[in-house]
Amino acid sequence: MKKIQIAIDGPASSGKSTVAKIVAQDLGLIYLDTGAMYRAATSVALLKQTKAPQEIISYIKENPISFKNTKQGQLVFLGSKDVTSLIRTNEVTNHVSFVAALAEIRTFLVAEQQRIAAEGGIIMDGRDIGTVVLPQADLKIFLVASVDERAKRRYKENKLKGIPTELEKLKAEIAERDRKDSTRANSPLKQATDALLLDSTGKSIQEIVQFIEQKAQAL
Ligand code: C5P
Repeated sequence: MKKIQIAIDGPASSGKSTVAKIVAQDLGLIYLDTGAMYRAATSVALLKQTKAPQEIISYIKENPISFKNTKQGQLVFLGSKDVTSLIRTNEVTNHVSFVAALAEIRTFLVAEQQRIAAEGGIIMDGRDIGTVVLPQADLKIFLVASVDERAKRRYKENKLKGIPTELEKLKAEIAERDRKDSTRANSPLKQATDALLLDSTGKSIQEIVQFIEQKAQAL
């Protein structure tokens, strides 16, 4: 198969990363979780108690974001520090939309994402992949699901990870993050005109994976 680029965008907890990881494995593609990069930048902002993009960026330049595939899943590092769990905490989740709206942070991380994409066939998930990061992607998917279903999925995931959560609060937080991500001035969450809209409400992960793989194989 030629070196293809697949872009998966959509709102919070729509199943993008779960689906992208499986497709990457099945089709031998690099998987890039761009949300993890914005989360890592947010953990720096919280650690350094700063909102200044240049301070966050210089920290990341000294301690680059990297990914490591293991049997337990993909680990995220900032320099030599494993931040996989830290970037999924409620504190990071509730501040990430602010940091992700900073223009300098986006310019810096998008350049990094495009550099990684140049390395080979890739599937990337995020909010602006089809519109900004990989506008020439061979296949673009806009994956959505109802807020109710997304909150329930996140609730189950959190429970498994031992993160205490209330379903109603989770629903409100997801809706608020979507609102911020889709109304920001810079690269808002939006379906690319050439993206396929896929609603995962009531569908299994396998059904979504199959749909994407069939489309990819037909390229
Ligand atoms: O995908 P995930 O929910 O982990 O993303 C966390 C946050 O990072 C999003 O809510 C959004 O604010 C930001 N993000 C973004 N652009 C991307 C990926 C994520 O702005 N390409």
